[in-house]
Amino acid sequence: MINDPFADLSDPSQPSHLRMGDGALLLRGYALPVEDELLGAITEIAAQSPFRNMVTPGGYAMSVAMTNCGAAGWVTDRSGYRYDPVDPETRRPWPAMPDSFSRLATEAAAEAGYPGFRPDACLINRYTPGTRLSLHQDKDERDFAKPIVSVSLGLPATFQFGGSKRSDPVVTYPLRHGDVAVWGGPSRLFFHGIPALKDGEHPKTGRMRLNLTFRGAL
Ligand code: SIN
Ligand code: FE2
Repeated sequence: MINDPFADLSDPSQPSHLRMGDGALLLRGYALPVEDELLGAITEIAAQSPFRNMVTPGGYAMSVAMTNCGAAGWVTDRSGYRYDPVDPETRRPWPAMPDSFSRLATEAAAEAGYPGFRPDACLINRYTPGTRLSLHQDKDERDFAKPIVSVSLGLPATFQFGGSKRSDPVVTYPLRHGDVAVWGGPSRLFFHGIPALKDGEHPKTGRMRLNLTFRGAL
């Protein structure tokens, strides 16, 4: 897929790579060649470590349902945010990261200018209509030299991408099934979020959006 991942995209007026900022790229349709592998693997992971609505340190249940795979998973509870090698719900290690996941993340990162990225954590976010993820930074990882690679599947969403301060203006980008966003380097700690998901029906996922976010956490 590294040769021509966009062969199936019919609209030549849509550039396949969109620059969102310094070090930040949106790779349109990059994951389409492996969509079914990814969706099948998500089902298997969720059978072992189910999606759940975690609680923020402030005591609110998140509207996004989450699970993880890889050596560590991102969790939040009343005591704070952290990466944990164990799923607190099953008390077992998170499911291993499938090869299809790590391969895609490594290739997309390289395509965006970050060669040699090996993710050790993948947060899986599940959105239904109305679900949102408010503006935040990904900053619980140990090494900010490693980028974030974020894969969109299912219903389209709007991506808000801002700057290093919460008050910086945000630019919005549509995230569609198969799109991969990569941010790192100077934009690694930029604020980002997803406003309430619009209702719809996607042929692969129904009334749902799934997002894989790969990190170098450990
Ligand atoms: C995230 O910021 O963790 C997820 C972003 C997304 O759902 O696209
Ligand atoms: Fe994030």
